[in-house]
Amino acid sequence: MDRGTLTTGNGNPVTNNQTTQTAGFYGPALLQDFHLIDKLAHFDRERIPERVVHAKGAGAHGYFELTKDLSHLTCAKFLSGVGKRTPIFTRFSTVGGELGSADTARDPRGFAVKFYTEEGNWDMVGNNTPIFFIRDPLKFPDFIHTQKRDPQTHLKSPTMMWDFWSLVPESLHQVTILMSNRGTPDGFRHMHGYSSHTLRLVAEDGSSHYVKWHFRTDQGVKNLSAAEAEKLAGTNPDYATEDLFSAIEKGDHPSWTVYLQVLTEEEAHNYKYDVFDVTKIISQKDFPLQEVGRMVLNRNPENYFAEVEQAAFSPSHMVPGIAPTPDRMLQGRLFSYPDTHRHRLGANYLQLPINRPKNHVNHHQRDGPMAFYNFGSAPNYEPNSFGGPSQSAGAVEIASNSAVSGNVARHQYQLTDADFEQPRALYNLLSESERTDLINNIAGTLVVTPVVIQKRTLTHLYRIDNDYGARVEAALKKLGSDI
Ligand code: HEM
Repeated sequence: MDRGTLTTGNGNPVTNNQTTQTAGFYGPALLQDFHLIDKLAHFDRERIPERVVHAKGAGAHGYFELTKDLSHLTCAKFLSGVGKRTPIFTRFSTVGGELGSADTARDPRGFAVKFYTEEGNWDMVGNNTPIFFIRDPLKFPDFIHTQKRDPQTHLKSPTMMWDFWSLVPESLHQVTILMSNRGTPDGFRHMHGYSSHTLRLVAEDGSSHYVKWHFRTDQGVKNLSAAEAEKLAGTNPDYATEDLFSAIEKGDHPSWTVYLQVLTEEEAHNYKYDVFDVTKIISQKDFPLQEVGRMVLNRNPENYFAEVEQAAFSPSHMVPGIAPTPDRMLQGRLFSYPDTHRHRLGANYLQLPINRPKNHVNHHQRDGPMAFYNFGSAPNYEPNSFGGPSQSAGAVEIASNSAVSGNVARHQYQLTDADFEQPRALYNLLSESERTDLINNIAGTLVVTPVVIQKRTLTHLYRIDNDYGARVEAALKKLGSDI
């Protein structure tokens, strides 16, 4: 393909892209060589901060097709009318590693979907696990520090991880998933995705339901064993990125069937578990999955940086008819994502092509770095006498119809038996070979931590299930632990 004449960033034709201008053959380089200075200066600025978490990832374009009309539950227009298709962009990621880290690391996987609806973008920023480690956003930076590098050695530290998990035992439900082979999925195509949080749908009449989103892979779940994952980390650290790209490139378009669990407000408030505690699932026996749509990924990014690295997802990017809930973690996330985007990408991150909504954007925000769409001569204040944009009376306010009451205080979650029931149920669901892998995966990393941390962890594992505790204890001893 002929891509035309080489130019400078300024559009001037470049006559020589191989040789710097110098004063004589052995003379110094000249400041007047704009092409050299501009090329080096731009290169010096090529990197933007990587995401503070979920730095390594891959993405693809596609569509969401609604297979069940949901207008009785929500006024979100993209959820009304069977067969309606909405363009999407999806990014999958690992969590703790840096941009160049291995795709097969033991980690949850991010599962973020941007829906470009006619009412602006809705981002479903979930994981491949239906729950999370913690249930208060105040703990998130501490938790993530334990997943990153030790401040002195700059090494990953099982001691930091198990110290935190054993001191925050509500995490052990998610830790059990993480240490099972579900912690090492076989690429991004063979895993489910979840909103994890309970979200709210609000209908035109103001009625409201609580929902959890489930994206179930049509490729079937496939996980790697610890040995396979470790080997791939050495031989092909970009295994999942390559797998997704090459499947789409050869026309093998991955898809997910999308389901909802739906609860009335009353059902949610009377449920045996706190539905706003993201360390808990809502049992599918109690609230079965209802199929509502299909997500298909059928187009690779043209440019990784522009589309994947600059993609900015946020749980607070909501459309009328989808609303937040009192889930504290979700509340913390509503702030954190746009905040980090303004740092990582700049105040005008929503103007970048991958983030820019596909409907008409119309507001009074102006200027700032890289303001590409600055609304020409339109008034930049409201009210004004020169014609809009003005608020639309019809749009349902996202926070509508939610009652709050109570004293302002730091209302602490208490650790109760309920926190051990769901990991117990999960442990009991595992096959014998899955349990063996889980036990070995735990023991293999726990054994290098101080005995006090091993003992504290065992106390919790025994509380989950006697067999779980006993087997991890035996495996630790076999590996030479002094417990
Ligand atoms: C990425 C914060 C919990 C899923 C991020 C980023 C931040 C963050 C700052 C980087 C975003 C960027 O630079 O673009 C938080 C905080 C949390 C939290 C403060 C809790 C208080 C969760 C939970 C989930 C989740 C519970 C899943 C249910 C993701 C995903 C990404 C991400 C998928 C990557 C998005 C992408 O692909 O660009 N998070 N997070 N996070 N987080 Fe969270």
